[in-house]
Amino acid sequence: MKLIVLLVTALAGVVSSRKLPDFVHKCKISDPEIGNCIAENINNLRSRFAKGIPELGVPPAEPLLIPKAELKSPNPDGLRANFYDIHVYNPSSFEIKKLNVDPKGNTIDVHVYIPYLHITAKYEMNGKILILQLKGSGPGEVNITNIDSKVGYKLSQHEKNGKQYYQLERVSQELNYKVTKLGFKNLFEGRDDLTESTNQVLNENIDEVMKEFKPVVDDTVKAVVDGIVFRVFDRFSINELFDN
Ligand SMILES: *[C@@H]1O[C@H](CO)[C@@H](O)[C@H](O)[C@H]1NC(C)=O
Repeated sequence: MKLIVLLVTALAGVVSSRKLPDFVHKCKISDPEIGNCIAENINNLRSRFAKGIPELGVPPAEPLLIPKAELKSPNPDGLRANFYDIHVYNPSSFEIKKLNVDPKGNTIDVHVYIPYLHITAKYEMNGKILILQLKGSGPGEVNITNIDSKVGYKLSQHEKNGKQYYQLERVSQELNYKVTKLGFKNLFEGRDDLTESTNQVLNENIDEVMKEFKPVVDDTVKAVVDGIVFRVFDRFSINELFDN
């Protein structure tokens, strides 16, 4: 059985020691409960995500940074928006609810739950939403609760410096969440009163509004889930991570 995963955020820098730190216990590849073993390891790492894990060369995960996301409505006078410098707060509150490895070790399914995310970004926006014509740029924020995602990853092996490593590729994803707040500053270039009333209208109609924003919020949340799950241990080889 093949396996990897110590879902960690961005592995930057160089780790000189190749030994797993004490708070990670090696899972046995022959263990029928290997999924639980890996899930436990990841959940144990969670509390260390916020501050980073120097032993693994993992930088702090709070906030998680996403450079850019784009929204392009399919209809011509629909909404167009760009988001930059996306900061995601609280991703390290995630919980791996379940992790299954298929018996052949070709795929893993991960059920991730995140209770709450607060996201800030710079936006540029132009277009129509509800009956409102919006045009503006400035800081924006969104609050999301109950993020529940089931992700399927395909596993493959690749060789690096004479050692075998696992690699994950997302092949399916179910995603549910609830947006509890959207906020945009400077929607009408200095007209603060209009901006405020518009934000109020947007939030009073959040389900309708989210039909427009869903693609970009989905992309952002998927990137967060991948950031937790996906940044696989390309620093540790299969032999370093697992016992036979
Ligand atoms: C949105 O999140 C911020 C930061 O966590 C918090 O201060 C604010 O109360 C939240 N607002 C809503 C309506 O959830």
